Amino acid sequence: MEILPSDYFRPLTPAEMFPHTDRPLEVDVGCGDGSFLMEMGAHFPERNFLGIERLLGRVQKICRKSARRGLANVRVLRMESSYALGYLLPPNCATRIHLLFPDPWPKKRHAHNRFVQPESIVHLHQALRPGGDFLFKTDHPDYFLEACELIDASPLFQRLDWLPAEEFYPLTDFETIWLAEGKTISAARWGRVG
Ligand SMILES: C[S@@+](CC[C@H](N)C(=O)[O-])C[C@H]1O[C@@H](n2cnc3c(N)ncnc32)[C@H](O)[C@@H]1O
Repeated sequence: MEILPSDYFRPLTPAEMFPHTDRPLEVDVGCGDGSFLMEMGAHFPERNFLGIERLLGRVQKICRKSARRGLANVRVLRMESSYALGYLLPPNCATRIHLLFPDPWPKKRHAHNRFVQPESIVHLHQALRPGGDFLFKTDHPDYFLEACELIDASPLFQRLDWLPAEEFYPLTDFETIWLAEGKTISAARWGRVG
């Protein structure tokens, strides 16, 4: 189901996002067609899952598929992800934020469009609850290095080990494509400090 904010100039309240506000919330930034989001929603019915995606067609697809599967704990916000994290999500709302295969903007002159920037690190920290974590995967080595340098240098986050192998963490749509093409996937995880 799509979340349609009544006011785009104030943070949503938890109750405007999900009916069960006592459940842990995980956010998938740039969720694409939403396979990961929906697999997670089906596997963890006791958690809420919010996808942020700017493309209408992808949001509609997720709404259709999640309704068909009866996934009441999966919702999508059609919006620019930096704005959503910085201004629409209530502070301290998420137990976990996933950034999986974000657009890499490989040309140097376009690198400022990448999601991981000093400002978004502050927004990630603000949206996470104390004890929350941020998970990042990419097939793009330069983006991976740049993001690790920026976040490792930030006092707002500390590096954590990736999740235990037995923990359910499905492949995303893009990950499946990159793996089939033989690309190497890099992954890192950080915990919110404070
Ligand atoms: C490479 S795809 C990855 C999708 C998905 N995470 C996966 O791994 O299959 C990147 C997605 O992020 C979305 N996206 C890119 N920039 C965005 C932004 N600024 N705000 C919201 N969504 C964005 C794109 O529309 C696209 O669906």
